[in-house]
Amino acid sequence: RASMLLAGLLLSACGKQAEAPAPTPTPGTEASAAAPAPAPAKVYVVGTDAAYAPFESQNETGEIVGFDIDVVKAVAAKAGFEVKFVNTPWEGIFNTLTQGDRDFLVSAITITDERKQSMDFSQPYFDARQLIAVRDNSKVAKFDDLKKLKVGVQTGTTGDEVTSKLLGKNSPNVKRFESTPLALKELEAGGVDAVVADNGVVENYVANNPTAKFKTVSDPGFTPEQYGLAVRKGNTELMEKLNKGLADIKADGTYDQIYAKYFGAKKGDAAAAP
Ligand code: ARG
Repeated sequence: RASMLLAGLLLSACGKQAEAPAPTPTPGTEASAAAPAPAPAKVYVVGTDAAYAPFESQNETGEIVGFDIDVVKAVAAKAGFEVKFVNTPWEGIFNTLTQGDRDFLVSAITITDERKQSMDFSQPYFDARQLIAVRDNSKVAKFDDLKKLKVGVQTGTTGDEVTSKLLGKNSPNVKRFESTPLALKELEAGGVDAVVADNGVVENYVANNPTAKFKTVSDPGFTPEQYGLAVRKGNTELMEKLNKGLADIKADGTYDQIYAKYFGAKKGDAAAAP
């Protein structure tokens, strides 16, 4: 449609009449009268479960903010498209992608082989691991110690996966929550003995909620995870833009700036050494 519109404009600019009646322009795509304006930037709808600070959360004014959000905004700026973030509950977030309600997802999503069967992932943009949160008087010293305890997880996350493997998928001791903060609240209330979730989120919560009196327990047995942007299977056009944008922000230092804003300077970053 855009090319027909352009052809029509070119013809009328030459003083000729276009043969076919001009197609009704889609709202927002009208070119300005004189010179044809550059095509408006494409707006992609991005789904995110904004209850996962510091990756994505809602601030006091309801704005969606966080590391993931800054990364995607920077990618969009490089690749020349616009983004609209839509808060989307984790349960069902992948369906919003397959059904076409969202163009892509950023949600601290771990790239897994299972998920790769139903969606495509960008190049990884963040390294993560599971981390255990317990109350600070807990005797838990390793993941295996959770076997007989009540463990809170966010439904359908990689934390749910590893915990279900240890305790048994149908174990009544696996307590599934709609969000990770809800699981952590329950840990504070004493309803569960531990929470297993992504390290960045657990560390952020512990640091910002000193009155909860939590400590963290790491376990070398947890497999390293990587976050990726999730795109509908076969959407190579968008995937290329995202991967190119990610490569660009990694190359020009934008990624490192965003990283430092949320997590401090990267370990092993000589330039940041005192
Ligand atoms: N990385 C974990 C996973 O992919 C948890 C992600 C949860 N993200 C969120 N925004 N709630 O399963």
